[in-house]
Amino acid sequence: MLSDVREGLTAQARHLPSKYFYDERGSQLFDEITRLPEYYPTRAERALLQDRAATIVSITHPATLIELGAGSSDKTRLLLDQILKSRPAEVTYIPVDVSADFLTASVAQLRDEYPSLTTSPVVADFSAQFALPTHPLPALHAFLGSTIGNFTPAAAVELVTSVRKRMAIGDFFLLGIDLRKDPIQIERAYNDSRGVTAQFNRNILNVINDTLGANFDTSMFDHNAVYDTEKHRIEMRLISRIQQTVSIREVGDIVFAPGDAILTELSYKYDRAIVIDLLSASGLQLREWFTDDAESFALALASR
Ligand code: SAH
Ligand code: AVI
Repeated sequence: MLSDVREGLTAQARHLPSKYFYDERGSQLFDEITRLPEYYPTRAERALLQDRAATIVSITHPATLIELGAGSSDKTRLLLDQILKSRPAEVTYIPVDVSADFLTASVAQLRDEYPSLTTSPVVADFSAQFALPTHPLPALHAFLGSTIGNFTPAAAVELVTSVRKRMAIGDFFLLGIDLRKDPIQIERAYNDSRGVTAQFNRNILNVINDTLGANFDTSMFDHNAVYDTEKHRIEMRLISRIQQTVSIREVGDIVFAPGDAILTELSYKYDRAIVIDLLSASGLQLREWFTDDAESFALALASR
């Protein structure tokens, strides 16, 4: 984190990796975002899973569900229910997440709810190399919530390639993706009226304060989220309200003029052709493409 923050905040165009949103508070704030009326992706994906989980499980017939960026595993329960219905014994669930405390709490709840399920959490940064525990095959590798959108196209290929390398023959990959749509609807989802997304955005500064002994005054940064219609992505920034100097132990002083920005997140929106390109550049083939009636969100099922 120290080298990411040093590199990101001393660069000409300041930026921070979005994985640093997610300490326990950040994960809770994201969970709150998923329940906001403006944040359509979670509702759309949940409705899709309600419709399609049985079909997905009948095609993939997994003994293990591996989920990258599992968070609360809330929508995942729709898949787990179907998997356990099709194969009542010896089902393994491996949620992978960087948010350690939140993962521990959500796994405790899952174990209560699903006593017959073997749950083996992995705390890891999925954009780096990490080892999976030995698990029964075949596995369904899921990456839900459109978290893939938080990666640049090149980083997305790298990430999906790393998933493909962990896939055995007979395994499948399930990708949840937010689709291109009316920019006004997209912008609203990232500028909610209750300001929860703004709190989530500012939380990255709290994480840096707590972890690196910095002294960001989060109230001195405005939330900003704009959709770039050419790049098909939300760009989320924190904008300095005033002239200020922030000290970060082991990095030094960072000076912000009024209006200076830190890019904190990109959220790319896809279409079917771009997903097919991403999969094939990563060595995977699209098998099924499920969307809701409004074509708001998609689930792509792929194999090697
Ligand atoms: N899948 C859930 C949560 C999505 S939020 C849903 O669909 O609602 C993104 C999740 O990915 C968070 O739980 C966050 O902690 C995790 N995450 C983000 N970047 C990560 C990384 N580099 N490595 C591991 N987990 C990451
Ligand atoms: C986790 N990720 C897919 C969310 C998104 O929509 O890009 C994170 C988020 N940022 C602001 N609101 C939600």
